[in-house]
Parts: sequence; structure tokens; C-alpha cells
Amino acid sequence: MSLALPILDDQPQRPTFARGPRSLDAVKLLRISLTDRCNLRCLYCMPDEGMTFAPSDDVLSADHVVAVAAAARSAGVTHFKLTGGEPTLRTDLEDIVRRLAALKPVELSMTTNGLKLGRGGLAQRLAHAGLDRVTVSLDALDEPTFAQVTGGRGFKLADVWRGLDAAQAAGLGRLKLNVVVIGGVNNDQVAQFAALTHTRPWTVRFIEYMPLGESHLTHRGADAFTVDNADIRAAITAEHGPLEPLTRDDEPGVGPAEIYRLRVNGAPAPGRLGFISAMSQPFCETCNRLRLTATGQLRACLFDGGEVDLMPTLRTTDPRDLASNPSALQALMATCVSQKPEVHSGRGNRAMSQLGG
Ligand code: 5AD
Ligand code: SF4
Repeated sequence: MSLALPILDDQPQRPTFARGPRSLDAVKLLRISLTDRCNLRCLYCMPDEGMTFAPSDDVLSADHVVAVAAAARSAGVTHFKLTGGEPTLRTDLEDIVRRLAALKPVELSMTTNGLKLGRGGLAQRLAHAGLDRVTVSLDALDEPTFAQVTGGRGFKLADVWRGLDAAQAAGLGRLKLNVVVIGGVNNDQVAQFAALTHTRPWTVRFIEYMPLGESHLTHRGADAFTVDNADIRAAITAEHGPLEPLTRDDEPGVGPAEIYRLRVNGAPAPGRLGFISAMSQPFCETCNRLRLTATGQLRACLFDGGEVDLMPTLRTTDPRDLASNPSALQALMATCVSQKPEVHSGRGNRAMSQLGG
């Protein structure tokens, strides 16, 4: 006779991923925001007016960035991504890249608006310092829409193209383009963006707009600007034919995009398409990242809280001691990861420029 215990199915169940993304072991990528400042004012990222930035004394020093990255590396983090605001505004960027590359991550990459990559040999210098790859944010393929999306700061789309060419020439790995699709602003350009993969070995990634922090769009009722990636896929298919799904195994990085490829004249296109559907299909159960803000807070999630301040520890400990004994920082990382939400709330209190993407 078996003595099976009754199944208490009226008990609240812990989600199965409680031991997955909520454990430091699951974290593969540390996104490091090097500054909350930016030379652009993208509609989805910043308000028209009244944007305030952290005082420079509050921004992480290169020593602190390296200390946190080293602690993460020895806790099993394999990928580092430099972000902003706009990371190329940091004058010590090359030095930071060199020091992070010395930690021997599997990959060291950077997300940038691309404007400075083509100036003063920056792309070349960063590649030389040990940067493996860049992702360039680009939301428009004509100058008027570019000016509209980036808040009319006087920069030209042509400057971004120059940056993309420089990154390619510097051998900065397989380029990714991030395209945030905004209803009524650039959603009519998605097929044109997809066509870039006909001739270039890039991954063009379509990102659903997320209502985060105070921005031009959140001030105007974010819902009107949200476009479901299913609609974007349909628009691309109507123009270019079927999307062939690919595994993301040989896609660089450890990102959440679903990857596809078009065919061109019957042959597989050299580039790929990625879809990041955080709004329509949240991927929280496979979350593998932690974020470090430019002012030294760790964040578990883009949307909801889960914030742990590293500054008290960083400010009171000698950087050499942090290097020889990373356990205090690692304990704070574990606390932060344990606060990941089951599924995000769809609304975030801080803009991407503060969180680093
Ligand atoms: N929603 C979606 N994507 C965003 N990004 C910045 N803000 C938002 C938002 N509110 C994108 C940037 C960059 C990446 C890190 O995130 O364009 O490519
Ligand atoms: Fe700058 Fe990126 Fe924000 Fe645009 S999205 S304002 S490029 S930080």
C-alpha cells in the first residue's frame, strides 16, 4: 500500500524559474552603464525638457567599474556590455575597455548611437584596446525621421553611417543594429531596415518600445506608440517573403532576440533579423543579466525595482581590497538577482539612459 501524501494544490506554487534567473549562476551578462549622459534625446528615452543628469562626482570611476566587473567575472559572468547614456562620451573609455578586456570575458561589447565611432579613429582604437563588437542604435533611415526620433540635436544620419563603416573597417565583429519601433514615427520603415540584411552580414534587431521612465513618449500616452513585433514580422514578410527561423547558437552575445533570416534571389541573406518582444512576449524566465547603473546601483530588471546600491561598499573599501576579496560585491549581486520579478510589470520608473539597457 502506498502512503502518498495528498497533493496540496491549493498552496501557492513557487514559479519553476525561482532557482533559475534568481540565482547568480544564471547571470551571464553584466551591462555596465558608463554615463547617463547622451548627445541625443531619443523620444523613447528622454523628455523634451527637464532632463537632469547625475553630478559627475556620483558617477562610477574607472577603478570602480573594473572592481565590479572583476567580481562579476569571478562569479561566473562571461559577457560585459558597455552602455550609457552614450558610452563614447566617457573620456576614459579606451582605458576602461583595455582593463575590462584584461579580465578575459568571453565577449566585451558596447551599445552606442554610433555618432563618435567614425571620428578620430575611435572604432579602431577601441578594437585595438580589446572591444570585440558593437551594437549601434539606429531608428530611422531618412534624415527627417532621424532628426525627429533623436530629438533634433543637429546630428545627421550620415554621421551614424560613417560610424557603422568605421566599426566594420575596424573589424568590430558582426554588427548589430537596434531599431526601436515607434508607432506613427518609424514603423513604416521596418521593411527598409530588413532589406539591409540582403547585402550586409549584420543582425538588424527590432525592439518593442518599452514605456520606461519620463520620456517624450510616456508623456504622451505610451500605448499609442507600442507596436507588437508580430505586426512588424507581418510587414516584413509581406515585402520580402518568409522569415526562416534560426537558432541563436551562432549569434554573438547572449541576448533575448528571436533570430530569423530572409532569402534573397533564392539564397540565404548574409544578415539576420532579430525580434526583441519584451512587451508582447516577456522573456523574464530566461533572464541572464544584471545591470550596473552609472551611479553604482545594480538593477535586476529594466522595469521593476530590484535595486541594490554598491556605492557604500565601493566608497568605503580600498580598490585593491575589492580586487583581492570580491565576496562583498558578489553577495550584493546575489541579493539583487534574488529580486528579479516573475514577470515584469510593463512600466518602468527609470529611463534606459539611467539603466543602461
Ligand atoms: N524601449 C525600447 N528600447 C529602448 N532603448 C532605449 N530606450 C528604450 C525604450 N524605452 C534601446 C536603445 C538601445 C538599447 C540599449 O535600448 O535604442 O539600442
Ligand atoms: Fe541617447 Fe541611447 Fe537614450 Fe537615444 S536611446 S537618447 S542614443 S541614451
